[in-house]
Amino acid sequence: MKKIVLSIGGSILVPSLESNKISKFSEILKILSQKYRVFVVVGGGGEARRYIEQARSLGIDEATSDELGILITRINASMLMWALGEDAYRSVPENYTDAVLAGDSGKIVIMGGVTPAQTTDAVSAVLSERVGADFLVNVTSVDGIYSEDPKKNDKAVKYEIITPDELLAIISGAGMEAGSNTVIDLVAAKVLKRSGIPLVVIDGRNPENLTDTLIKGKFDGSIVSADGKNPLDQI
Ligand code: UTP
Repeated sequence: MKKIVLSIGGSILVPSLESNKISKFSEILKILSQKYRVFVVVGGGGEARRYIEQARSLGIDEATSDELGILITRINASMLMWALGEDAYRSVPENYTDAVLAGDSGKIVIMGGVTPAQTTDAVSAVLSERVGADFLVNVTSVDGIYSEDPKKNDKAVKYEIITPDELLAIISGAGMEAGSNTVIDLVAAKVLKRSGIPLVVIDGRNPENLTDTLIKGKFDGSIVSADGKNPLDQI
């Protein structure tokens, strides 16, 4: 069985608490787990940003504000984990070694953030290294990697397949303050470059894109691959 790590943005899984997509993603993760060994890293979304904003206005430092963001990612991870019932490992690992051990159960492992000054994208890249993932899937709110932010510039070009160096060039201008947002963070991109683990970017606003891509082989996102090979060709 191939091993995959999914990085699911908080804004995708929990756009707001009341409009959460946890039930839909649980259904999809159960399907994926019949074909893959699945590890999931869940983001904090708007709720994390709201807490971080308030923390700053209280004069709380950036790293401590990050810790609040991490707590929110773990709340989202816990909701997904409990919704999955017996299919999930019943604890949210707070470090990589615990995640590796949880993976030995053969169940779906769900975790959130780990340490300040990064986002859950970085967690998912490091976790991919630790578990020896065949590829990392970033489930996000754009339909691929663009030359610029497509929400800000409609002339931005979408890439089908690029190298880790090209990805680094695209995102290297991004900020690192608590709550900042890009397609994938700089730490994650650097980890992917050193490990050579491919990245698949999927638009998670339609959760069915996951089964289309990873089960049916119908893909419309972007790929980062060091050797130019598409990891989806071998699924
Ligand atoms: P996210 O990973 O959710 O950041 O973590 P994001 O880029 O806002 O992601 P989306 O919107 O869900 O896709 C939320 C915040 O939690 C802190 C950071 O401040 C981050 O911006 N965090 C998260 C950490 O400091 N370390 C971590 O390992 C994870």
